[in-house]
Amino acid sequence: MSTTNRRDGQAEQQEQRVAAAAAAAAGNRLDPWFHNYAGRAHNLRVSEVRSLFAVANRPEVVSLAGGMPNIEDLPLGKLGAMVDDIVANSGRRALQYGGGQGEEELREQIVEVMRYEHLHAHPDDIVTTTGSQQALDLVTGLFVEPGDVVVAEAPSYVGALGVFRSYQADIVHVPMDDNGLIPEALEETLARLRREGRRVKLLYTVVNFQNPKGVTLSLERRPRIVEIAKRYGVLILEDNPYSLLGFDGDPMPSLKSFDSDGVVYLGSFSKTFAPGLRVGWAYAPLAIREKLVLAAESAILSPSVINQMIVTRYLTEFDWYQQVKEFRTMYRGRRDALTSALAEHLPNLSWTVPSGGFFSWLSLPPGLDAKAMLPRAVTNRVAYTSGTAFFADGQGGDHIRLSFCFPTEERIKEGVRRLAEVVRAESELVEMFGTASNIPSQHGRETSTTDVPGPDSV
Ligand SMILES: Cc1ncc(COP(=O)(O)O)c(C=O)c1O
Repeated sequence: MSTTNRRDGQAEQQEQRVAAAAAAAAGNRLDPWFHNYAGRAHNLRVSEVRSLFAVANRPEVVSLAGGMPNIEDLPLGKLGAMVDDIVANSGRRALQYGGGQGEEELREQIVEVMRYEHLHAHPDDIVTTTGSQQALDLVTGLFVEPGDVVVAEAPSYVGALGVFRSYQADIVHVPMDDNGLIPEALEETLARLRREGRRVKLLYTVVNFQNPKGVTLSLERRPRIVEIAKRYGVLILEDNPYSLLGFDGDPMPSLKSFDSDGVVYLGSFSKTFAPGLRVGWAYAPLAIREKLVLAAESAILSPSVINQMIVTRYLTEFDWYQQVKEFRTMYRGRRDALTSALAEHLPNLSWTVPSGGFFSWLSLPPGLDAKAMLPRAVTNRVAYTSGTAFFADGQGGDHIRLSFCFPTEERIKEGVRRLAEVVRAESELVEMFGTASNIPSQHGRETSTTDVPGPDSV
């Protein structure tokens, strides 16, 4: 190497050292841009559910954690031929940009789907979105400023809590019982927030087969919830991806059907068709809808045209409702497998028995901590979601969410058997050491005989 080259190399290294030192001074050692982020970026958190997806994919672990729909029963061969045809014969449109509000043909179909919800909309009322998750984000972005209150049922869907946090909302929970959101508790909370001079922007609720609790808002409570929200001037965000997956038939009237102006309704094809297509929608009052379209255009220009065309063709050319009925039967079988296994292996505990959807909510014995127990459960080759994921205020450690949507009935039964072993062992330890937080953390790994990596890699 020549002297000049060596000097150039040294100068370069010196420059890199100076730049690294400046970055470290400006930010922190892991992220030189740390101090440059917007305040809302610091509210983003790794979801407890997402961190479990890697575990769920290991074949030896029975995952009762993630809420992935079972898409295996879809007619994949026929769907493939349909997608081929779309690209070959309508590719110029399918692969092009589309309108910000979504494809009209799909919105016409969505209107038909919503009739099952007792909703009578016009295609112009609908905004197609990239999953209902994007609709959650867009609506929240339109209304919530930092410090505004979002009232959310407790527990709440973790993905919605993430959105509310990202807009720096103050999330205030209202309890539910086996009949869903409790109207008296909602009224009390809204009255208190009004006395405190707080600005409440949204009431967030999943009224059918709720995620994570599995409960459904009773018919009698529906108009009452709508009336209370209206009286307090609070817009309802009704998130309704599971309603067609009821085990006892068609859905009850949605909140939106009681007060169209007071409710933004969100729907999705993720649970009844295919989550990978990322197609959902919002049905909002006129003025909000116009703003939603502008917000959607500024976020993504337009939702994927080809994916919307796939959904449209599926709805028009396949017997999609028969498929939904088959899904109901399959998920009911899995719900039964879960609840009968719980009755067999954990008879002293209590859990919700959902009449649809994907989830049951299990109460742990006193003293057990769902989050602390999770690594030990994974070591025993079963995964669940800690109840803490579904509260904004640290509650939930005394519950776990069990998803029965993805594993087969046999796997669900085996998963519950393994879970019961963990709960029993944990209860013995709690008796011995007092509370769960006193239990030595190495316990799971020392006694493990499984091939699952320890909690550090979860
Ligand atoms: C209650 C609820 N809302 C919204 C979503 C997001 O659905 P999508 O796939 O339509 O974005 C989910 C997904 O699990 C959910 O459970």
